[in-house]
Amino acid sequence: MEIIVCDDYDQMSKKASEIVSDIIKENPKAKLGLATGSTPVGMYENLVKDYEDGKIDFKEVSSVNLDEYVGIDKDNPQSYQYFMNEHLFDKVNINKENTHLPKEDGSLEESVKKYDKLLEEFGQRDVQVLGIGPNGHIAFNEPDDKLNMHTSIINLKEETIEANSRFFDSKEDVPKQAMSMGMADAFNAKTLLVLASGKNKHKAVEKFMHTDKIETMFPMSFIALHPNCYLIVDKQAYEG
Ligand code: PGA
Repeated sequence: MEIIVCDDYDQMSKKASEIVSDIIKENPKAKLGLATGSTPVGMYENLVKDYEDGKIDFKEVSSVNLDEYVGIDKDNPQSYQYFMNEHLFDKVNINKENTHLPKEDGSLEESVKKYDKLLEEFGQRDVQVLGIGPNGHIAFNEPDDKLNMHTSIINLKEETIEANSRFFDSKEDVPKQAMSMGMADAFNAKTLLVLASGKNKHKAVEKFMHTDKIETMFPMSFIALHPNCYLIVDKQAYEG
């Protein structure tokens, strides 16, 4: 694992985008695993800039995303599909047919099965971008006594609803469930790019730095098992 401590959010975003850009330059058919949330916004801005500057081309790039809220339409500005369109897909020449997020299609059970099938067919990603929750969650795999390997419907923990309420008018509007890749899916990439920024991630980053245990109550700890993982953090997340 390579741990990179950056001065600030912008430097973290730049470093992350350079790694993704290099992967796309090396392989124009790169398969990306993408994440939503406030952490990767700066990384996407840099990737869009690299595209506009003619440094990278998304024509043959394909992607899968980690998760999506349950009960929120894809056209709703709070949906992760909307986020991806807004921050990346609508700004580059990616073929949207080659981009995938979990989505409700039939019953929840059927939707889960469909996403698992899609992930199996998509295969290993060249890179998977991951954020972490303040509680150390990975995608929406919340701390628990067991973690899912594959796609499932997750009941969001109170602290996650609280953390995500900043994107909604009120806490009551935050969906209580999400469809999320499991841990095995989230780690099925040649390179993992784990990003953490800001004071509210410090507790999780500090815990990770000081533990040599893998715990399901701390999903972030599992990133230590990946053979090619970058943890890129800014000073606020690192030092508190
Ligand atoms: P954030 O979310 O980037 O909005 O902090 C990350 C996460 O909860 O995994």
